[in-house]
Amino acid sequence: MPKPFFITTAIDYTNGAPHIGHAYEKVLGDVLARYHRLKGEEVFLMTGVDQHGQKVQQSAEKEGVAPQVFVDGITAKFLALWEKLDVRYDAWAATTDATHKDCVRAILQKLWDDKDPATGASRWIYKKTERGWYSVRQEQFLTDKERGADGEFGPEWGQVEERDEENFYFRLKEHRDWLRDFIKARSEAGSPFVFPDFRVSELLNAVEKMEGDLCISRPASRLKWGIPFPESFGAGFVTYVWFDALVNYISFAGYYPSLPENPKFNALWPALHVIGKDILIPAHGVYWPIMLKALGFADEQMPTLLVHGWWNIAGAKMSKSTGNIVDPNALADKYGAEALRYYLMTDIATGRDADFSEERLVTRYNADLANSLGNLLNRTLSMTAKYRAGKLTKVISDGIVGPDKPEEIEAAIKAEGKIVMTVTSPDFSAESRNHVEHLYQPNMDRHIVNIGIEAGMRFVTLCNQAIDILQPWRVAKDPKHTKVLDSTLYDLAESLRIIAILISPVLPKAARGIFAQLNWDKDEHGNERPFRLADAVWGGLPDGHVLGQPIPLFPRIEKPAE
Ligand code: MSP
Repeated sequence: MPKPFFITTAIDYTNGAPHIGHAYEKVLGDVLARYHRLKGEEVFLMTGVDQHGQKVQQSAEKEGVAPQVFVDGITAKFLALWEKLDVRYDAWAATTDATHKDCVRAILQKLWDDKDPATGASRWIYKKTERGWYSVRQEQFLTDKERGADGEFGPEWGQVEERDEENFYFRLKEHRDWLRDFIKARSEAGSPFVFPDFRVSELLNAVEKMEGDLCISRPASRLKWGIPFPESFGAGFVTYVWFDALVNYISFAGYYPSLPENPKFNALWPALHVIGKDILIPAHGVYWPIMLKALGFADEQMPTLLVHGWWNIAGAKMSKSTGNIVDPNALADKYGAEALRYYLMTDIATGRDADFSEERLVTRYNADLANSLGNLLNRTLSMTAKYRAGKLTKVISDGIVGPDKPEEIEAAIKAEGKIVMTVTSPDFSAESRNHVEHLYQPNMDRHIVNIGIEAGMRFVTLCNQAIDILQPWRVAKDPKHTKVLDSTLYDLAESLRIIAILISPVLPKAARGIFAQLNWDKDEHGNERPFRLADAVWGGLPDGHVLGQPIPLFPRIEKPAE
């Protein structure tokens, strides 16, 4: 049996409420999951929350509540948002879960116990004392990056003193050659470790410059809110948050280091990790593959990273201090979840950054959904109701959809004093194949959702143009053109059936609505008809099929007066 398509997202920090960047990533994960289901694949989508760490500890302290109470409150907000945005996942990774904590500790133990026979010391982890600049107020060590232009640490750090600290380190730099060769080999084999391509060179550059190892512990005296190290390491150490968080991808998928077979896990792994560009280097691009290698994962068992860009506000980063955080909850309440999903999936190129704009959300919704798609649906259903009492006659077009003799209709229209038709309408079946096979599918397969959806929307535009050119309301007046009208109405309804399938990963409710209005929502046994890409082939609606009534699916959003 083929493995499911296993897709994960980053797990969000629970030190504040979700924002539009979190929403984008989870909707992207959900859309890819729905697309692969559309292709008939088994899919497993996992998302969750990163509940430990200094930032969470500090936010909880500020509110004067216990960290677990604090993270439970924030976690509830994330859960409610995914419900509202129709993000459907198969596993929820919340890192304060006992199974995850056990797994992290067991992994540390396994790496600690993996001894080099020559030295008797662990091959992966060592203990070391480092001296550094420590901010008493922020409870963290500072690096040169934190120094101001004058070379001093600013007042925000409070008292800064030199301190010695003993910690555990995970070896990274000795794996640099392996990591570089692995990344190159994956690209050469045509299955790059990182998508999109330009991120591969970015990562390779970082790997070349890699120095130092990763400090994976914090003394419990300054970080309490984390997973305690196993006792065999000595008392008083807590796991650094990244070493804890990255493990979620395997711990919640059923991995446990001492299990000989890990059958549940092996049936799923490896995953496609959907992450933002800020956490590629070093966390996912360096720490994570080396951690997996340390656990004995072979090169063929390494995951793939899909790295998306960021939503900015007028070119600047969203941040609490600037007060420009965009709240996805408020947008979904105001415009509906599907309007938000559509905007997030179409107004950014997968991998690149974009500027968030509420005005563009409204403009795109009105232009693409209310006008273009909504009108096509409405016109198709209304005309079929008016001219054919809703009933379709299946006329398969053979290259040219038009009157028996295209010049006849042209002449007829000319006779009415208005030349509206200079070309015949498209070959719908060929166009639909073209859009599905050459535009939609290849782009969706490469996770370029914006272009995939654009293919669907281009097909909508084409149908609308065909209506404008053919003017079925004129054709309907002339009994000579019965076949033209029949084929046009069939072509439009059939196109809508296919368009609904194509947009269903992004707009599952609207797609269902289109199916319902086409009276195609249930199969012959009365069961809900699933969306399947295999059904996006021309000719699915049978001869004599009766369409439903038009109901506005995408009411226009009225822009507030200037
Ligand atoms: N907890 C870590 C991830 C651990 S994964 C093992 C973290 N959390 S986060 O809450 O800061 O970010 C979660 C995800 O949201 C990241 O992939 C990040 O890139 C993404 N985004 C955060 N802000 C974003 C935008 N403004 N735009 C798009 N995505 C952004 O990092």
